[in-house]
Amino acid sequence: MTSDSGVTHDPSRSLRDWQYDLREQLRVLTDQPEQEARWLLAAALGLDGAALLRNALLPISSEEETRITALLTQRRAGVPLAYCLGEWSFYGLDLCVAPAVLIPRPDTETLVTLALEGLAEEGASRVLDLGTGSGAIALAIAQARPQAEVWAVERSPAALQVARANGALLAPQVHWLEGDWYAPLDSALRFDRIVANPPYLADSDPHLPDLRHEPWDALVAGPSGLECLERIIAGGYERLSLLGMLLLEHGPDQGNAVRGLLNNAGFSAVQTRCDLAGRERVSSGTRI
Ligand SMILES: C[S@@+](CC[C@H](N)C(=O)[O-])C[C@H]1O[C@@H](n2cnc3c(N)ncnc32)[C@H](O)[C@@H]1O
Repeated sequence: MTSDSGVTHDPSRSLRDWQYDLREQLRVLTDQPEQEARWLLAAALGLDGAALLRNALLPISSEEETRITALLTQRRAGVPLAYCLGEWSFYGLDLCVAPAVLIPRPDTETLVTLALEGLAEEGASRVLDLGTGSGAIALAIAQARPQAEVWAVERSPAALQVARANGALLAPQVHWLEGDWYAPLDSALRFDRIVANPPYLADSDPHLPDLRHEPWDALVAGPSGLECLERIIAGGYERLSLLGMLLLEHGPDQGNAVRGLLNNAGFSAVQTRCDLAGRERVSSGTRI
């Protein structure tokens, strides 16, 4: 039988034969070809890991072959694994992801951990996530602090759709708003934490070609890279409750500039935390 791609389908080839094949083809792309082959097969066939093992010797149908080769073609074209799979893990949550949203990074888990520090486990607290993308930060906080009132703002309607879908499954209590940073919020709302992982690359950043599959507007702030951080800091102080804290992820070379912006905006206890590699990645300030 001939598939849509014009390649003859071999009905004697089992799932395991395909798994070996994928693994070999993925070797040039990744240092975890075995794992990626399993994940891509699982996504193409709609199976979990245990079912992949159980069905290892069963033949692959022509339709299944079409789905497997479509995913492999995407991956070989450099599409990030997360977009091929349509889901990604962040802070222990399985999130749907699509090309409209930034793929949540492990680095951003540091921001979540710091935001949760000192945030009461019981009782009312209010948290705002600016530029929520997939909803990763808002949902991680909502899961860890189910009593908290969590708000999330996103300018991209397509990204917000992904966040809302994740929210419906993981934390229906989160309030999702579309708009430009603080603009869609009621001006009377005050927050105990404002968190953001905003775009912070300059439009000339040499890493951008490697990130070409992710949305430009999620990555690039403008000519300096500091434009979004400046706007979030400028509007943050008046939105915080007393002792409320603004926490911002930024590039490893932006710590000094962000501390300066926080100090100039009147924040106290301004500090920067490093990641495991010792790079400055999250700066914060408190309203007193
Ligand atoms: C670096 S991504 C972070 C996504 C998510 N918070 C995460 O950590 O994975 C920045 C997000 O900010 C959004 N964004 C950019 N400019 C914005 C603006 N003016 N107002 C609200 N959101 C904005 C982008 O669309 C993007 O989803």
